[in-house]
Amino acid sequence: MSLPELRSLPLPFKILFTGTLLVLGAGFLVAEFNLYLTYHLTDGQPGLTPADMKRAFYGQRDNTKLAAKIHGGSMEQFLPKAGDKEKILSWIQDGAERPGYVAVVQPILAENCVRCHNPNGLQRFTPLTTYEEVMAVTQIDRGEPVSLWARVAHTHLQSISIIFLVLGGIFALTSWPERVKAVVVALPFLALVVDFGSRFLAKYVPNVVYLMMVSGAAIGLLFAVMTLTPLYEMWLKKPPERSPGS
Ligand code: HEC
Repeated sequence: MSLPELRSLPLPFKILFTGTLLVLGAGFLVAEFNLYLTYHLTDGQPGLTPADMKRAFYGQRDNTKLAAKIHGGSMEQFLPKAGDKEKILSWIQDGAERPGYVAVVQPILAENCVRCHNPNGLQRFTPLTTYEEVMAVTQIDRGEPVSLWARVAHTHLQSISIIFLVLGGIFALTSWPERVKAVVVALPFLALVVDFGSRFLAKYVPNVVYLMMVSGAAIGLLFAVMTLTPLYEMWLKKPPERSPGS
């Protein structure tokens, strides 16, 4: 079956495809930016690295969540006064008992942390206003809970598959060889399953984060190829030279 050429589609279709490709592409870039903002400070250093991914998904098994966050983690910045961090760390080391909490830890948290960590604050999911609440983050840091993985994975798998259905439908009209197109439209689905599968496995095997980052990069590359090629063929590609006599 011969498909219509992208270049010679009726104008309304070209505009429809162009709008879809541009806005889906912009949405993808914003999603990547969101990912960066969420995870780049996980290890306390700027830049999104495998170390951030391991801390986020596997956790720090020799450490508690509270200690991991205030010692080389994203919450260290909120303890500007010298000695406060050490006081909290030694309280955890000494068994995190209630008297030490009341005497030492509670005032530090009240001054520096509770403005976000309260039931109405920015970080309402982990309030730090009572001993019991603080005890909940004084457990071993096992990284992202499976429940969060399930919430993120099911919506992403479903919605991104639909996006790649649309992108693949438009990309299939390009002039690339049939076999190459067949591979390109299949790869995003494979990469998606590997990406979210490895995000799950990273809870058990931390080095799987490398596989996760490679598959994430592959999704980005495929997204770029599948958006830019049709845009090029619709608007920029020159019609083939007509051979004399035709
Ligand atoms: C400006 C608001 C803000 C302040 C102030 C703040 N936090 Fe946070 N906290 C957050 C946000 C947002 C997160 C989730 C993102 C992250 O983990 O980096 C978080 C996450 C945490 C977590 C991990 C919770 C979890 O279950 O994953 C702990 C523990 C924590 N903060 C402790 C503290 C401590 C201790 C202080 C004070 C020294 C503090 N925070 C000050 C906003 C804040």
